[in-house]
Amino acid sequence: MAQSNAATVTLPSGEAIPKLGQGTWEMGERPNARKSEIAALREGIDLGMTLIDTAEMYGEGESEKLIAEALGDRRDELFIVSKVYPHNGSERGVQSACERSLKRLKTDRIDLYLLHWRGGEDLEGVIAGFEKLKDDGKIRHWGVSNFDTDDMEELLSLDGGDACATDQILFNVARRGAEFDLLPWLREHRMPAMAYSPVDHARLPRGGALEQIAAARGVSAFQVALAWVLQQPQVFAIPKASDVAHVRENRAALDLHLSADELADIDRQFKPPKSKRPLEML
Ligand SMILES: NC(=O)c1ccc[n+]([C@@H]2O[C@H](COP(=O)([O-])OP(=O)(O)OC[C@H]3O[C@@H](n4cnc5c(N)ncnc54)[C@H](OP(=O)(O)O)[C@@H]3O)[C@@H](O)[C@H]2O)c1
Repeated sequence: MAQSNAATVTLPSGEAIPKLGQGTWEMGERPNARKSEIAALREGIDLGMTLIDTAEMYGEGESEKLIAEALGDRRDELFIVSKVYPHNGSERGVQSACERSLKRLKTDRIDLYLLHWRGGEDLEGVIAGFEKLKDDGKIRHWGVSNFDTDDMEELLSLDGGDACATDQILFNVARRGAEFDLLPWLREHRMPAMAYSPVDHARLPRGGALEQIAAARGVSAFQVALAWVLQQPQVFAIPKASDVAHVRENRAALDLHLSADELADIDRQFKPPKSKRPLEML
């Protein structure tokens, strides 16, 4: 069950990538959960959730190793995203960090490589390092994460900054601040936004609109929350699920189309921003 054309977003390069992928934060860290985590990732791949997000930070590389084990010989089917720590954020630092990630992932290329957050990095150096990695064929695209609108403006003011492919941000029904200015800015610059924690790290409030819609549709409140994110234009999402049943539910959320009335019910509980809110981070 691959994702249909409508279920893709387009990178600035014109490449279409899946709108629904899989996150892996907190995966690969517990030996007794390894088998079920690998089964969950493989189920997601079989269901067309072939974009997989990781980071050198996740389990200090253990998540990348888990992905290598889960994907086996299916590398060419996948779009792998990884991230570099800001403390490795220099021209040489990003290149060395990337080499280490490639080894752990047992691959020769990362499809999309992100600066994980801002924190004392040398942004010009990061761009130069990313571009060198691109030239060497070790990454195919690069982007950033947790950049607010002013950070994006700064990035684009730098030489080569306009090659950024995406901004991975905390965005879900309960964290809508980016709708005020960041999402419009990204759309204007033809950069899709990558929504992390799309079900709010399983901390969505109970009761209310999500559960009412879920009961009426015979789905779960998680699926309604995920469908809401997936319905936003030029936004792609990377829910993390280490449970195969959750993976299947998340894939089904891609086919759940919320009506205008349902969206209005959600807006009444989770109000869209009326003014600038600083970008939240998890
Ligand atoms: N760039 C950044 O700074 C940043 C920050 C945070 C996250 N991320 C990325 O985004 C990914 C997703 O974010 P996240 O892991 O924070 O949170 P999330 O995907 O919003 O939520 C994950 C939690 O929700 C549960 N869950 C998922 N689908 C479910 C379903 N259908 N029904 C019930 N429970 C469900 C999972 O349980 P089970 O595991 O038990 O299935 C897990 O406890 C991360 O894994 C990571 O790759 C990036």
